[in-house]
Formats: sequence, C-alpha cells, structure tokens
Amino acid sequence: MSAAAAETRTVHVRVPATSANLGPGFDTLGLALSVYDEVEVTALPPGELEIEVSGSGAEHIPRDDSHLIARTIRYCFEAAGRRAPGLRIVAHNGIPHGKGLGSSGAAVAAGVLAANGLLDGQLTDADLLRLATELEGHPDNVAPALFGGLTIAWTENGVPQHKKLLVHRGVAPVVFVPDRTMSTSMARSVLAAEVSREDAVFNVSRSALLIAALTQSPDLLMSATEDKLHQERRAQAMPETFALVNALRAAGFAAVVSGAGPSVLVLADGPGRRLEAAAVAAEAADGSWQPLMLAVDFLGGTTWTADDPRMDMSRTAG
Ligand code: HSE
Repeated sequence: MSAAAAETRTVHVRVPATSANLGPGFDTLGLALSVYDEVEVTALPPGELEIEVSGSGAEHIPRDDSHLIARTIRYCFEAAGRRAPGLRIVAHNGIPHGKGLGSSGAAVAAGVLAANGLLDGQLTDADLLRLATELEGHPDNVAPALFGGLTIAWTENGVPQHKKLLVHRGVAPVVFVPDRTMSTSMARSVLAAEVSREDAVFNVSRSALLIAALTQSPDLLMSATEDKLHQERRAQAMPETFALVNALRAAGFAAVVSGAGPSVLVLADGPGRRLEAAAVAAEAADGSWQPLMLAVDFLGGTTWTADDPRMDMSRTAG
C-alpha cells in the first residue's frame, strides 16, 4: 500500500471486554467476554486529531493527545520506525468503563490493532502483545482482548507471552456491575510486596486447578477460584464488592472480583445457574448491581477495512 493510500485508510476494530485474575491467577489469567468496544480510525495529515466518543464513560474520556487509543497508535508507529499520521477516531464503548472489565486494556488493544491496520499488518502477534503490555503494564487483560478465549499470560526474559485455551461449554459467566468505579492503580497500591510461602503454594495450587476447571471440569470451579494473593487486601477499598463475593460463594457460586474490581464475576457451572446467581445477588445486595449474562468471546480483537471487509480471524488459532 502506498503512503498516500495509508493516509486515507479507515480501519475498523472491535475488541471484547476481559476479566482478569479469575480469583487466583493474579496478573496471569484472563477471559474474553462478549461485550465490545468498537472503534473506527482514519489516518489524517500529520498533526491533525479528531476524536468522537460515545457509550460507557464517554463523559470522562479526554479528546486530546492524551486519548489512550491515539497515544497507543502513535506508540506503535514509533516502534515500527514510521511517522504517525494524524488521526480521526470514532469510538463507541460497550464495555463498562472503570468497572474491572478491561476497559483500558481494550482501548490499548484497539489502538495496537488499529495501528497494525494502518501499517498494513506489519506487526506480528508477538509485537501486538508486547506493545500492548508495555502500555498497559500487565498482560492479563490485553492478551484475551487481542486473542480471545481463556489466556494464560507470562513474561520470558521480560517479553510477554500467551497461551490461548478453549473454555468448557458448561462454564457460563455472569458479571455483576455496580454503579461505582475503581481505579486499577489504587487497587494495586494496597497489595502486599511479599507473601508467605503458604499463601504462594495456596495460589499455585488453585491456579493450576482453575485451568482444569475451566477447560475440563467445571464442577471444580468453587475450589479453583479461591485466592490469597490479592482479593482480601483489596476488601477495604471496595467492601460492597467483597460482601457480594462472599454472599455468592456462601450460596455455592464461584464468585471472584473481576480484575481489580469493583465488578464481581461468577463462573457458573451451567447457563441456568446464572439466573440463580442473579437471584442471590438481588437478595444480598442493593438493586444497583447490573447483571450481565455473557458468553466467552473466542475471536478476540478483530479488524477490517473497506478494501478487505472480511474480519481478520488469523489470530484465532491460539
Ligand atoms: N491483574 C490486574 C490487577 C488486573 O488485579 O491489578 C487489572 O485489570
């Protein structure tokens, strides 16, 4: 593609919500969920910037150079050794903003995918994950946002890696979203710098079990979602979230804090069980928690252009 064509090209991107940690898998496990941000990015002459945002959190999102998708696209062009074009960004946020469902990871994932579209696919999957992780700070939301499904993310010699897994069809997610928000940096600031060997072993065992529960044996989800690494430390910062997690667990549902909170994720062992979980939540909490009955998203972030309207499904293989 010529530089002139790149200057007029519009790239469409759709990115799923994600729930990170899933209980014991702090900064490691993530699940892509079927609610989406949609973004349309058009290259303009250098220096120009137009931003339109609608949907969740739109009133809090800056429309200047600090806009996260714009910053991400410029970062990717710089990494690719190319001068960034000006940008017109039209974004619709379907993902609840600031609720622990990966809204910032989705913006970063949308930015790297849009940049890659404008760069005509120059970036590899490894580049996409590395650039997104550099901007987000941890890989557990951006990996499932980019690649879909259940992802295990880790770093090797400082380079983020991921493995995508299929989730057992009996696992049915429901997320309870409160009307308040929580900043991830605040929720990270309360974490302990060191943990005991006993707690470390506890989380290693539960994380390993959780992979088995999510891929083969949903009956193990209750034990597999226990955690001693981060959730209790965060309880003071979001007591309503912990009250709901505890009420749901006491009723037999595998409930965890979604990401850094404040939403609550239940990994129900069957679609019908989600309605029972919603009834427990309605009883235990005030009416301000919105239940979202979701599916696991298997595609991850998708991009398309007018020249090539097929969805890019090249990253679905895992
Ligand atoms: N693993 C991160 C945390 C997820 O718990 O801080 C934030 O979305």
